[in-house]
Amino acid sequence: MKSLSLLAAAVAVVQAQEVYITTSGYTARPQCTEPPATPTYRFQSFSYASLNDTVRYAISVPSPTTTHTYGPAYSEAVAKLSTTLSTTTWGSWLPGQTIISATDTADKYGQAAWSSQWLHASLANYTDIGLYTTTVSPTPLPTSELVLPPRDYFGPTDCYNFPEGFTFGVAGSAAQIEGAIGLEGRAPSILEKMLPDTKPQDYVTNENYYLYKQDIQRLASIGVKYYSFSISWGRILPFTVPGSPVNEQGIKHYNDLIDYVLEVGMVPIVTMLHFDTPLYFINASAGYAVPDIGYQNGGYWSEEFVESFVNYGKILFTHFADRVPFWVTINEPLLYAFNFTGLDNVVHAHAELYHFYHDTLNGTGKVGLKLNDNFGVPKNPENQTEIDAANRFNDMQLGVFTYPICLGQQYPKSILDTLPGAKPLSKKELEYISHTTDFIGIDAYTATVISVPAEGIENCAKQNMTTNSLYPYCVTQETVNAYGWDIGYRSQSYVYITPIYLRTYLSYLWNTYKTPLILSEFGFPVYAESTRDLVDQLYDSPRSEYYLSFMSEVLKSIWEDGVNVIGAIAWSFMDNWEFGDYAQQFGMQVVNRTTQERWFKKSFFDIVDFVGARNGLGY
Ligand SMILES: *[C@@H]1O[C@H](CO)[C@@H](O)[C@H](O)[C@H]1NC(C)=O
Ligand SMILES: *[C@@H]1O[C@H](CO)[C@@H](O)[C@H](O)[C@H]1NC(C)=O
Ligand SMILES: *[C@@H]1O[C@H](CO)[C@@H](O)[C@H](O)[C@H]1NC(C)=O
Ligand SMILES: *[C@@H]1O[C@H](CO)[C@@H](O)[C@H](O)[C@H]1NC(C)=O
Ligand SMILES: *[C@@H]1O[C@H](CO)[C@@H](O)[C@H](O)[C@H]1NC(C)=O
Ligand SMILES: *[C@@H]1O[C@H](CO)[C@@H](O)[C@H](O)[C@H]1NC(C)=O
Ligand SMILES: *[C@@H]1O[C@H](CO)[C@@H](O)[C@H](O)[C@H]1NC(C)=O
Ligand SMILES: *[C@@H]1O[C@H](CO)[C@@H](O)[C@H](O)[C@H]1NC(C)=O
Repeated sequence: MKSLSLLAAAVAVVQAQEVYITTSGYTARPQCTEPPATPTYRFQSFSYASLNDTVRYAISVPSPTTTHTYGPAYSEAVAKLSTTLSTTTWGSWLPGQTIISATDTADKYGQAAWSSQWLHASLANYTDIGLYTTTVSPTPLPTSELVLPPRDYFGPTDCYNFPEGFTFGVAGSAAQIEGAIGLEGRAPSILEKMLPDTKPQDYVTNENYYLYKQDIQRLASIGVKYYSFSISWGRILPFTVPGSPVNEQGIKHYNDLIDYVLEVGMVPIVTMLHFDTPLYFINASAGYAVPDIGYQNGGYWSEEFVESFVNYGKILFTHFADRVPFWVTINEPLLYAFNFTGLDNVVHAHAELYHFYHDTLNGTGKVGLKLNDNFGVPKNPENQTEIDAANRFNDMQLGVFTYPICLGQQYPKSILDTLPGAKPLSKKELEYISHTTDFIGIDAYTATVISVPAEGIENCAKQNMTTNSLYPYCVTQETVNAYGWDIGYRSQSYVYITPIYLRTYLSYLWNTYKTPLILSEFGFPVYAESTRDLVDQLYDSPRSEYYLSFMSEVLKSIWEDGVNVIGAIAWSFMDNWEFGDYAQQFGMQVVNRTTQERWFKKSFFDIVDFVGARNGLGY
């Protein structure tokens, strides 16, 4: 229901030259000091030359000149572990293979045990592979691929630069791009089991496991300094648990990947767990039960989770902390938390890894986590009841992690009062968990308009997800404002272009949690993009508008609001597997999964140009 009252109230009094700013609804133009009164018509010699644009090329990341170290080398770091690591290699499932012959059935971590994990997972076609089974050597990009697109007519007009050291980069995650799921010793993850057989799977996806060098080279060529990727737990530890052997091929893969990132002059950002928990944790029990919170069962509630994840995280630190300055323990833990135990386990595991990194390894980089919350804003920002409801929503999504981790404060009351079995942290636990993050990573895609449902919050909070669709937040969530307009231009999915909300969000986070912020994911799946011709997919102006408006608001947040935003990582650097869907494209490159060719979209050039023009590329 759209209100016409604003328009009706608008009185157009555009008479003489000085009356061009109205106060009754038309947009003010304070920059327009002396508009001419009347046009001057005249003849002149005509030329097409005004259409000739200067051709510009993307500027590649310069070759590295120095080496930075952020922690001890492996040989020194490994001595800090309380366990001795053994390494081994396992096999690969080749196309059509139904059995891997192995005689070591007595070895609980042997070849037979490894292949039986796959057989027990009982997946259709998991031995499918794409074009490659070995790492592809990169080829330099022809300059013809680096010609900048035409600019959009409208764009940011700010005059700010990014502060020195601002971390601008692009992101992807292992399961969404790697493929090669049954190769080189990887174990099955919950993502292979999560979706019905009829949905597109992650088995092959972008074959980044073998094409990573080419993919990284493309990023360096277009000029991006930071590359954020996730490591697959099942590739490092095919048997998940402490004491099980480390997969030599998995370690080598990510060592080579990190070295290649550095070789081309870029900097790696590593996420330890991005939804792809080993299937080990949800085998049989609780697999498909209705969660108390979040959407999926990530297995975080398991009694073995904390110890196992911390062991895995420490193994990553010992191998890679020397070269990696930014670490994310868990990506968007809320979504896969399942219940209070899952949330609580994540908080404890994160804190333990933070302490290990800083206290035991003396790592000089940063460790944090990445949180999701499509910022809850009160429908009427002056209505205290709705403000309280929005706070409840944000507390339950973010505060459950940030109260203890950033502030050393107890879990939010809404969590303790709503989730079954929720327990407060003890004073001792809080002391240990307090201030165990160097940044808040916020995946601030969009916003949510919050109001109070007719039934009230209290009644709903006593129910569960089966009986009440609003549970556990128990607030009304909308994507229209108080006057019935969408909060911004809509994408293919839940994302709307909401730059003004973003600026408020950053201010909310900084002033509430007093911790440096990284905009750790933001991106826009253009509506119906995958149905368009390639050339039209590449001209993705809505995505450019999303990125440039968000980045412009980040600058205002820094310079006008005093908010410490230390970085922004765009999601994603290429179209990928969006959990059962390839049509919802968040990428800044098109990927053809038959040929594995990639093409830069316009928005990729636009965001790099925006950041580069404001000294924010970090080189
Ligand atoms: C217009 O651009 C083309 C292609 O860059 C160039 O060859 C030509 O000389 C330009 N003409 C003028 C008048 O600048
Ligand atoms: C899953 O459960 C079955 C039956 O209990 C067991 O034999 C198998 O090893 C388990 N799979 C994994 C991956 O742990
Ligand atoms: C598995 O592959 C076969 C042969 O290509 C195909 O007919 C079948 O639909 C596939 N099943 C799934 C679940 O992808
Ligand atoms: C870490 O630093 C502390 C104090 O600066 C020092 O005592 C300790 O030996 C260092 N540990 C490592 C692994 O370098
Ligand atoms: C969370 O779920 C697991 C698996 O069903 C269960 O064992 C555990 O008790 C649950 N935790 C709470 C607090 O309900
Ligand atoms: C404030 O919000 C509540 C809940 O949405 C609503 O019931 C109430 O009427 C609002 N009050 C005002 C003054 O708008
Ligand atoms: C949800 O609540 C209903 C009604 O109290 C109850 O019957 C049901 O068992 C609950 N479901 C879960 C998953 O707790
Ligand atoms: C991928 O490339 C192949 C071969 O050129 C072509 O036939 C196919 O249409 C392309 N697929 C998409 C989705 O563009």
